[in-house]
Amino acid sequence: MNKNINHEKKSHLGGVGVIFLVGFMGCGKSTKAKQLANLLACPVIDIDAVIVEQQGVSIADYFAANGEYAFRQLENETLKSFDYPETCVVATGGGLPCYFDNMEWMNKNGMTVYLEMSPQQLVSRLHNREKRPLLKGMNDEELLAFIVGKLEERNVFYRQSKLHINSFDLEPKKLLEEIKQLYGGF
Ligand code: S3P
Repeated sequence: MNKNINHEKKSHLGGVGVIFLVGFMGCGKSTKAKQLANLLACPVIDIDAVIVEQQGVSIADYFAANGEYAFRQLENETLKSFDYPETCVVATGGGLPCYFDNMEWMNKNGMTVYLEMSPQQLVSRLHNREKRPLLKGMNDEELLAFIVGKLEERNVFYRQSKLHINSFDLEPKKLLEEIKQLYGGF
């Protein structure tokens, strides 16, 4: 276990662990993280939001000023240095599991859940493309082609998660049940 997981801070459930949600942009990681955290009465951590707060700029502005590689390094450092409470739900950025050893690190330090969606489902949910630097200016057709290609690369990493679940119309209680069934103990 990593030293940054704080085993002193227990939730009222007595320490479930850290639940990392991964998946493509638009699959609902941030929303599902909040809902799960609500059910578990524990904190929610959004790695992108931590970066925005620490850097004082939006992700889009950070990309524009420093480039994608600097962002990937920053997300890697943020993931590994954050002082996680013992029980919490973490929403990761869509690219985070696919760089460095981030996926392996999350598997070692918590529970990992891949929120899956088909490329068509993702297109239907990705309306606000301007705040996502990788999707800026794309129409639906271009976005679909981009998602199909990127998912092929990224699924190699996303699928290293211990639990895979389609997150389109997924009830938070059902998600929690699936996590409990796989990991047990809480
Ligand atoms: C990215 C996803 C974004 C954000 C950045 C890069 C990606 O997070 O980290 O724009 O490479 O897929 P969301 O998945 O929360 O949109």
